[in-house]
Amino acid sequence: RIVYVNGAFVPEEDAKISVFDRGFLFADGVYEVSSVLDGKLVDNAGHMVRLHRSLNELDMAAPCSDEEIEAAQIKLIQDNHVVEGLVYLQVTRGAADRDFAYPKNVKPTLVMFTQSKPLLNDPTADNGISVVTLPDLRWGRRDIKTVGLLYPCMAKMEAKAKGANDAWLMDDNGFITEGTSNNAYIVTKDGIIVTRQLSNDILHGITRKAVLTIAKKANLKIEERPFTPAEVQNAQEAFFTSASAFVMPVVKIDGQDIANGKPGRITQQLREMYIKIAQ
Ligand code: PDD
Repeated sequence: RIVYVNGAFVPEEDAKISVFDRGFLFADGVYEVSSVLDGKLVDNAGHMVRLHRSLNELDMAAPCSDEEIEAAQIKLIQDNHVVEGLVYLQVTRGAADRDFAYPKNVKPTLVMFTQSKPLLNDPTADNGISVVTLPDLRWGRRDIKTVGLLYPCMAKMEAKAKGANDAWLMDDNGFITEGTSNNAYIVTKDGIIVTRQLSNDILHGITRKAVLTIAKKANLKIEERPFTPAEVQNAQEAFFTSASAFVMPVVKIDGQDIANGKPGRITQQLREMYIKIAQ
């Protein structure tokens, strides 16, 4: 596989990063994951806007122009023959002597790679997935897409140890924030789509924005507010959104089926509508 490092396209075994890179030492970096359908980037402009927001929040310089980033993403997709899958992009503050204070005048490190993955005919979307609820022990700026992902990894492992596919995380008041790497939703028995409102508590999902726009156009009712695991258990449907799974049905929470334990009608409708506009 060909990967991108600071302007160079190289075989992955030849790629080099300094041991002093602050991404490696402090998780001092941000990232984006864009999906690829039919060899083309999906909603990449939205991902670039969020990348700049994350960089700004951390006083981090952009490594190069958006046009250069996108040209490199497209070249990677072509060089690696990606038809369906993901492009991962990471900017770290760069390499400097280890110091908690941000160093001045360092060159940011930009790394990109691709992953081929079935997205349209994703077999997990046919049956849906199961989640368990766990406390959200991440930091207080979950709106910044940082590479500090250790707690989500721990939560995913705990979910798997409990026989589930993933975890939905809960704030101190017992309300669900989001999934380990996705935004969380329910559809109530009255057909209302409920998802947590944007704040520092959750990542401002690019797929979330697109799906809510589609739902509004389809005259579906939306409430942006926190919800509890008990509401999920009583819901008609549940699902999550992310660039790597689009709209994914959630059919079980904490060992209990949601409604009949099958992907819901509105969830499937949103998935189909999202895929149509993404293509
Ligand atoms: N994750 N919330 C969190 C914590 C995330 O990490 C992600 C994305 C999302 C969904 O955002 P979007 O719709 O923009 O992908 C929500 C990516 C896919 C990842 O870490 O692989």
